[in-house]
Amino acid sequence: MRSPPAPFRQRDAGRDDAPQARALSTRTCTDDASDVSLAAALAVAFAACCEIGARADDFACARRRDGGKHRGVRIRNVALVVVACVTAARAETFRAGSFALALPRGLAADGAVVPADDPPTAAKVALGRLLFFDPRLSRDGTIACASCHRPSHGFADPARVSRGIGGARGRRNAPAVVNRLFADAQLWDGRAADLEDQVARPLVDPAEMGNPTVDAVVARIRRVRGYGPWFARAFGDPAPSAGRIAQAIASFERTLVAGDSPFDRFQAGDRRAMRPAAVRGLALFRGKAGCARCHTGATFTDEGYNNVGVGTDRPDPDPGRGAVTGVSIRHAAFKTPSLRNVAATAPYMHDGSLATLADVVGYYDRGANPNAWLSPEIRPLHLTAAERADLVAFLRALTGPIRNGTPPRALPR
Ligand code: HEC
Ligand code: HEC
Repeated sequence: MRSPPAPFRQRDAGRDDAPQARALSTRTCTDDASDVSLAAALAVAFAACCEIGARADDFACARRRDGGKHRGVRIRNVALVVVACVTAARAETFRAGSFALALPRGLAADGAVVPADDPPTAAKVALGRLLFFDPRLSRDGTIACASCHRPSHGFADPARVSRGIGGARGRRNAPAVVNRLFADAQLWDGRAADLEDQVARPLVDPAEMGNPTVDAVVARIRRVRGYGPWFARAFGDPAPSAGRIAQAIASFERTLVAGDSPFDRFQAGDRRAMRPAAVRGLALFRGKAGCARCHTGATFTDEGYNNVGVGTDRPDPDPGRGAVTGVSIRHAAFKTPSLRNVAATAPYMHDGSLATLADVVGYYDRGANPNAWLSPEIRPLHLTAAERADLVAFLRALTGPIRNGTPPRALPR
């Protein structure tokens, strides 16, 4: 059920070889005059179509990667441009067996990542919702997943670093658990292979839910008799297990999707959906400010690991991805976060060190914290105050409603 990425998306251009992959990607090849004029001709042909600027870039670059050797490539790419434009304009549905999830405008079903051994079902999602909001998953019954991934805060945490049971402080900022359907590796350093693999970690983290073992959680949930029928509907058997809890929660998380922002309506052809400041910000984001080199694709992330200097000005920086791979070039590299709904999820960065979007833009503008492992894309941007404000206006225009996030009315007894 793992679908290959769509031809125009670059979510495969990340991972640990992000810099190399990027060198091959379309974002490095916008300067070829003949390709650009060809793209311009296409832009005219499909003037009514959305996102023509970006698609035309992709088209030009796809041709250039091909070396222009194959004439067939042209025709195929023209067809792909049309298909891409049509799909971006209407909302899609993600389907797996009999399960269907309506996606908001802007998200593409073929970017979905679901493990073959955990196909989503409505019954698993319903059970997962209960578990996600249930504080009985923590040792002392005070902390639910939703305590740190708060629906009222875009499923992120307003605290700089989260507080778990007994007020214990973690060391990282809680990311938004939204649009996770579109990624395999989870956590700031990607150490969880998928959503299923992620679930047990907060359960036994002493600074989060504080259980001695996952079995202790399973035993506690087993004692809640009201859960039996929910497990029976989801798994054909009323007994909770660690694997079933993980599958149910992961299935629920995959239904938390957000799109249909002013940006998406703008892309779909409504030129008034974004304010002029945000439109200028979009051009900066893709152009002068270079943000789209990493924040790319439908969810504005390459899902790769990059060092943008956060925390490297401190004596003992979080090694991030470097500690997971043991590769020193990944030192203090973190997963590029999605920027959808980012206006709702302050503070920012893996350590929550930047309080506002203006702070983030200012941080990039001054060239971040230079260090030996800094990603080559990061350099001083020399933006004017007006340009910085435009970029913030664009980031705000990525805000859309989160679907399927309503807390359950009651928990099983
Ligand atoms: C005490 C606060 C806290 C609790 C409780 C908590 N989380 Fe988290 N969550 C975090 C923090 C902090 C991170 C980032 C940790 C890291 O990257 O090392 C995180 C990361 C995640 C991610 C990764 C998202 C991404 O973009 O990579 C997922 C998914 C997630 N949590 C789901 C859950 C689930 C499911 C539960 C309940 C079983 C839960 N969390 C409980 C604080 C919490
Ligand atoms: C080299 C790749 C790269 C480029 C270029 C880049 N970013 Fe980022 N961005 C990242 C990474 C990686 C993080 C997480 C860093 C961390 O926490 O240590 C991040 C974090 C962010 C965050 C915080 C999101 C959150 O949920 O905490 C925002 C906002 C953001 N970037 C916006 C931008 C803007 C605006 C630009 C252009 C000026 C930009 N980025 C350029 C990779 C990049």
